[in-house]
Amino acid sequence: MTIVKKAFMSIVGAGALAQLLLAAAPVAAEEYSIKDGVLKRPTGYREWIYVGTPVTPNDMNNGKAAFPEHHNVYIDPKSWSHWKDTGKFREGTILIKELVSVGSKAAVSGQGYFQGEFIGLEATIKSKKHFPNEPGNWAYYSFSTKDHKTLAATAKPFPTASCNSCHLASASDDFVFTQYYPVLSAGKAKGESAAGGHDSDLNNSYVEPKGN
Ligand code: HEC
Repeated sequence: MTIVKKAFMSIVGAGALAQLLLAAAPVAAEEYSIKDGVLKRPTGYREWIYVGTPVTPNDMNNGKAAFPEHHNVYIDPKSWSHWKDTGKFREGTILIKELVSVGSKAAVSGQGYFQGEFIGLEATIKSKKHFPNEPGNWAYYSFSTKDHKTLAATAKPFPTASCNSCHLASASDDFVFTQYYPVLSAGKAKGESAAGGHDSDLNNSYVEPKGN
């Protein structure tokens, strides 16, 4: 074999090896890591798909809301993609609810509830593999601490009665409160138009207040 041919063969060989290694790589991992039911605190979720912010301010809940106060909710990108295509939450869906305090009640735009600081973190995961006995295969976690000043590094799933039961009874769509997340309810199985801006008809029931 000539030197040139030898060099060519070794390049082809290296390419084939790289292809083999790629084929053997594990399928893209989920956005969470669970060991014996214990969930490691997920990271990176502020770069997922943001679906909405319910707000239960302390001052409308006897001074102490169960989940204070703004709840910024995110879904992992793979599950969002599946949702807009099929209208279903796939095996492996994770939703994060990040708690944010009310920082101010007035701004130059008017009176209201404005976001302050991060004060807690909750999560729910749908997995038949990990939670075969939970209704809907959804398990619920909290990394929040009592004084809302730190986050736990890991969390155990709550007993079914603590969280799952209320989600089962009152959430609109497969244990998720999509009735409060227009990004999910309006985007269900809507494909590309779920991403926003594709429709001119907002298709809502909003009533414009009277006045000038
Ligand atoms: C009494 C009913 C009730 C109970 C009990 C409850 N939740 Fe929820 N949860 C809600 C409602 C309503 C929402 C949506 C509105 C909001 O965030 O205020 C929600 C939203 C969520 C979300 C965002 C994704 C979704 O499913 O909509 C997570 C995560 C969550 N809850 C975690 C928990 C955890 C963890 C517990 C148990 C410690 C728990 N919940 C117990 C009513 C409940």
